[in-house]
Amino acid sequence: MPKTIAVSNQKGGVGKTATACNLAAFLGLRHRTLLVDLDPQGHCARTFGIDPTTLSPTVYDVLFKRAKADKAHIPLRDQTHLLPSNKELAIGEVELRDTFRPVERLRDGLRPLKFDYIVIDCPPNLGLLTLNALVAAQTVLIPVSATLAYIAAQNVLEVLGKLKEDFEMSWDVRVLQTFYRQGVNESEALREQLVVDFGENVYDTRINLNTDISVAMSAGETMIDNPRSSGYYDYKRLADEVLDGNQAKARKSVTGAPSSRRSVGASR
Ligand SMILES: Nc1ncnc2c1ncn2[C@@H]1O[C@H](COP(=O)(O)OP(=O)(O)O)[C@@H](O)[C@H]1O
Ligand SMILES: [Mg+2]
Repeated sequence: MPKTIAVSNQKGGVGKTATACNLAAFLGLRHRTLLVDLDPQGHCARTFGIDPTTLSPTVYDVLFKRAKADKAHIPLRDQTHLLPSNKELAIGEVELRDTFRPVERLRDGLRPLKFDYIVIDCPPNLGLLTLNALVAAQTVLIPVSATLAYIAAQNVLEVLGKLKEDFEMSWDVRVLQTFYRQGVNESEALREQLVVDFGENVYDTRINLNTDISVAMSAGETMIDNPRSSGYYDYKRLADEVLDGNQAKARKSVTGAPSSRRSVGASR
């Protein structure tokens, strides 16, 4: 079963898409990885130099059972594939309301796929698309760039609490500090707050503020294409941490050793 990571926060501009795309690219160097774009803006495709308006079928067709997921994903680079979106998905968010089991459709659509990792880029609202991502995921990675993003992260936790009751699910909740500026009061104070509130569930890796990342995204590149940038090391390190965490979890399930990591909900 793939390890599925939803990259979510109820705020735009916090580095969700940058993180989803770069994490998927680095994971794909070693593992079969699917990047799922659940934002109608279609920025995942653009980050890999592809015009999303030309793509069909998309994740919209998978959500509405018009296409099978294995026919809708396209190769990007190495072992990374993309299940793309485009603006059609914005209508999908509304249409989902009239469907049967509207928040389980992504999970059901992805179920037949054979990947090691699935990384889902969520839109900035906590609507039906994001709920589909959360229900499909075992890990929720919350990028936090500043105080307002930290407040928005609490709303993601609240939604997970409600989903837990409805679906008897649990998630590993991990927080990633983005747009980090070493030595700058705001960044360091936020770091302290995150560590107090989330403990070990804050990734050691911080994604530094670096315009290389935005320049690369606009040029249709990931940080793998920019090996001299700090963004390359930051996202490589994040991928290593994700992989290490997964191995530690596998070891734990063999030994039964307790984990101090925070999870929301019952184990599954
Ligand atoms: N660490 C970073 N440093 C500088 N710019 C970044 C960084 N991460 C993302 N960006 C840029 O900031 C903008 C918002 O990032 P994005 O990943 O699209 O956020 P979200 O998906 O949360 O809306 C984009 O232009 C992106 O290229
Ligand atoms: Mg985005």
